[in-house]
Formats: sequence, C-alpha cells, structure tokens
Amino acid sequence: MKLTVVGTGYVGLVTGACLADTGNDVVAYDINAEKIAALTRGECPIFEPGLTEIIQANARAGRLFFTTDLRQAVHHAEAIFIAVGTPPREDGSPDLTALHSVADAVADELNHPKIVVIKSTVPVGTGDAIEARMNKRARHAVRVVNNPEFLKEGTAVDDFQKPDRVVIGAEAAEAADRIRELHEPFVRNQRPIFVMHRAAAEMTKYAANACLAARISFINQIANICDALGIDVNEVRTGIGSDGRIGFQFLYPGAGYGGSCFPKDVQALVHVARRAGVEADLLEAVHEVNQRQREVLFRKITGRFGADLTGRTFAVWGVAFKPRTDDIREAPAVVLIERLLEAAAAVRAHDPVALANLRRRFGDRISYHTNAYDTVQSADALAIVTEWNEFRSPDFDEMRRRLKSPIIFDGRNLYSLTTMQRCRFAYHSIGRPSLRPA
Ligand SMILES: NC(=O)c1ccc[n+]([C@@H]2O[C@H](COP(=O)([O-])OP(=O)(O)OC[C@H]3O[C@@H](n4cnc5c(N)ncnc54)[C@H](O)[C@@H]3O)[C@@H](O)[C@H]2O)c1
Repeated sequence: MKLTVVGTGYVGLVTGACLADTGNDVVAYDINAEKIAALTRGECPIFEPGLTEIIQANARAGRLFFTTDLRQAVHHAEAIFIAVGTPPREDGSPDLTALHSVADAVADELNHPKIVVIKSTVPVGTGDAIEARMNKRARHAVRVVNNPEFLKEGTAVDDFQKPDRVVIGAEAAEAADRIRELHEPFVRNQRPIFVMHRAAAEMTKYAANACLAARISFINQIANICDALGIDVNEVRTGIGSDGRIGFQFLYPGAGYGGSCFPKDVQALVHVARRAGVEADLLEAVHEVNQRQREVLFRKITGRFGADLTGRTFAVWGVAFKPRTDDIREAPAVVLIERLLEAAAAVRAHDPVALANLRRRFGDRISYHTNAYDTVQSADALAIVTEWNEFRSPDFDEMRRRLKSPIIFDGRNLYSLTTMQRCRFAYHSIGRPSLRPA
C-alpha cells in the first residue's frame, strides 16, 4: 500500500520504517528540514535500538523515502498517518496545534479520497473534530481512523513488530479494514486486532498510560511508607507481585516516571474528565505522587548534606528518562540536576547515549563525561537515576578510589544491601533502609 507518515519522531519514524519493512511504499514527511536531510543520508536522528538498520535497508530497497515536500507526501498515499507531537499546555490539556496545522495542510493538498490515521495521542472527540474539519476544507472525502501507538522507547521496533494488541478506532468499516490489513503481518503470532469506536480507541490509549503510571505511583508511595517504617520494599514487592492478579510489571520503586507520554497523558485525562464534569481525584493523585517522587533523590541528598550544597560536587549516572533511549523529556534526572544547581552544587553527568540532549538543555552549567568512572572523580557522592544495564555491576573498588566519599544515592535500587554493606558504601535507595557504615 502507498503510505505517508507525517512527523518523523519516535512514533512516526518507527511506524514508517516498520510499515516499509513489510513491503509498503512509504513516504515520511517532516517540517524539520535538518531531520529529513539526516534521514536521507541514512542517519537516524534518535537513539532507538534496531531502527537505523531498518531505515537504511528499506531506503536502499526504495520503499522508504524522506521529504519536506507536503504536496508530494500527500499525493503519494492512500493512507496518511499523522504522528506529530501533542505536548501539554500549562493547564494540562494537550496542545493540538501541530495536529490541526497538519490536518489543514493535508486537506488543502488532497488529490483523492484518503484515509487519515491519527497515531498521535489525542483526547476523546479529536477524530470526529479532525474528520469534520478536513471534510469541510478538502475537495475529496477524508475518513479518519484512530490507531493509538503503544510502543515503548528503547524497545520501539520490537513493540511495533510484535504488539500485544493493535487497536483501530473507526466509524467506517472499509477504512478500518484497510488499516487492519496493514497490521496483519505483525500479529501472525495470534495477537488480537481490536476494531472499536473511534472515541473508545482514543480513550484506550489514555487509560492504558494512566493505568501504568498509577502502578508506578502506587509502588512509590508504598516505598515511601516502607522507608519511614524501616521495611525493605523489595521484600514487599516480591510478596505482592507473585499474586497472579497483581504481577511484577511497572511495580519498580524509583525516582518517578518521566518521558513525553505518562506525565502529559495523565494530566490530559484529568483535563478531559474535568471538562466532562467528572472527578478524577485518583488520576490527580497519581500525578502529584509522581511530582513529589521526582524530588526524592534531592531530598535524600539534602537530608545528608544540608540544604546549601555550595562547594559540593555530585556525579549523576543516567539522564535519559529510561534506559535504551536518548530521550530526556520530563526525565527525573533533569529535575535532580536543576535542584542541585539551585542549591549551588556542581554536577558531573554521564549517560551512554543522552549526553548530547542533556548538553542542549544545560549547556556549560554542568560537565559531561562519556566514562562512568571519570564522572565520579572527586565527587562528594554519586546519584543513579536511570537503570542502564552497564550500571548494574560496576567496579565498586574503582568507584571508592575515585569518589571523595563512598556515598551512593540510588534512584533505581540497582544494588543489593549486602553488596553495598560488603563494599562499605553509604547507600541510600528507594524504600529500603539506608546504610551508613561507621
Ligand atoms: N514517544 C513515545 O514513546 C510515544 C508512544 C506512544 C504514543 N506517542 C504519541 O505520539 C505522538 C508523537 O510522539 P513522538 O514522541 O513521536 O514525538 P516527537 O516529538 O519525537 O516527534 C514529532 C515529530 O513531528 C514533527 N512535526 C511537528 N509539527 C509538524 C508539522 N506541522 N508537520 C510535520 N511534522 C511536524 C516534529 O518535527 C517531530 O519530528 C504524541 O502524541 C505522543 O504522545 C508517543
């Protein structure tokens, strides 16, 4: 099928590349000319395992083409996927400016009746509104389908190619069938494709993210209670997670969730509920608990060193909002670094892939280190914020030698208390007793 993807970010690029990989003829369009130029040279502008290879292979095979020419992009396709950002406004509602501007521009260029597939996460009713808006403007009929994306950054290609389920929200059966056919190659392992009402699909995406965010805030609150009572939350986690009704996923205590989705989608759902006159106090609490949790490492640091950190230096390992991505949007590490700088501390940061994005954010206010051990050199303590694999079994002797004092604030509970005791580190983690060797 001839397809166009509008927006070549995490969702658009993965969607375009994976659909080209199953034989479709895909044009990927973006307003960002620099991004399109890089993609045309075969360079992937984001770090996402496996994506570069798929982009290069399909571009070479002539099935994936990048352009900044909207007319060319629109004329090419039978179906146009829109995957532009829907960031939060001040009041928590999603900003649909990019979506509206794409819808208008596509409508103006329409040369045939087409299916427009909204991949961006959008509030209930957006599909109806976009369909009406485009049909009012265009010379040909537009049918809008909602096809929410459930990929996780870091495993995005795998998630797209082997989804747990595909959700298609459509009011026109024929449009739903065309989009279903596109996804069939990815569900040969009998995973389901659910066709539902468009508004239900829109709601499904928000409900899924809110549910996952709620689990994280839940375990973080339990961890904080454990912390106060001197209980190890890991033992409690094992005790509840083995219950088949509960499970272990998304029950890892930590420094809070981040990224471009959970924070904004929970807030957007609160906003949608308020507009519908419905209380959303549980969802509001999920957000508030997380906002507080993003401060947990800073609270522990000032608890140990005092509020004024003048003359102190802290090493930070892991700044991406999660491992295997270079995305630092809403990352808890960014919150920690901001707080440390406000308290007059110096910060030395390390991340396997996200340092370039961090530098765009903090410039010369902090120092950047490609080697994890160089980062801790002469630091008063180390804070770990992202659970990259390479941080799991470091050389603790080397760390002791390099740190000014052997203190770790671990926002991801990477190390066992026994190991930390044996290596004689002062160790402050989440929801577990602190270790303070004599
Ligand atoms: N990132 C994720 O893990 C993820 C997962 C599921 C759903 N989503 C949703 O998908 C949507 C996109 O997210 P993302 O992370 O891929 O965003 P992103 O910021 O990485 O990418 C958005 C892209 O759209 C482009 N763009 C903006 N305005 C444009 C316009 N007028 N015309 C053409 N291109 C334009 C930008 O240049 C950018 O390349 C959001 O609604 C998000 O909530 C994201």
